[in-house]
Amino acid sequence: MFKRLTVVLLAALALTACDAVDPNSPLGLRKTIFKDMLKTSEDMGGMLRGRLPFDGRKFADGAVKLDTLAHEPWQHFPQVRDDGKSSARPEVWERQARFHDLARQLEGVTGELVTVTRSQPLDAVQLKVPMDKVEAACKACHTEFRNH
Ligand code: HEC
Repeated sequence: MFKRLTVVLLAALALTACDAVDPNSPLGLRKTIFKDMLKTSEDMGGMLRGRLPFDGRKFADGAVKLDTLAHEPWQHFPQVRDDGKSSARPEVWERQARFHDLARQLEGVTGELVTVTRSQPLDAVQLKVPMDKVEAACKACHTEFRNH
């Protein structure tokens, strides 16, 4: 009896430990988009900082992808705060206008980045400022609206 209880308890613990977020829930969907945004922007920033070889074509493709992604997470924040392992602060729902402002700011700067990457060949030096603006837009919102 005791042994069986232990097995059940361990199984329950293991389940809690993975606590898998349903990938099709709003939380799961926005997390996936944010992760993709991070990966894309890190590769682009890496090219400008010399961590990755600079490739103007790849950078331009990254800019288009990032701009597309930048429009996507917001629809997956429900009107009412959802449960689960969210790192969003309650302020996302309490100060929605400000949250949306910062989302629009990101979309604006990713749009600018696409514009400057349209004329090939690209000069890495000229991409630094527009890329910095994108990274600053991510950071500004995380500082106000995400728990670290
Ligand atoms: C308007 C606000 C806002 C902007 C702009 C923003 N984020 Fe976020 N980000 C959030 C919030 C809120 C969360 C927490 C989501 C949750 O867990 O519910 C988050 C979560 C994340 C996560 C964690 C995902 C996970 O696995 O839990 C990553 C990575 C991330 N953002 C990357 C970025 C990058 C990169 C940018 C810029 C290109 C960016 N974000 C721009 C608000 C923003």
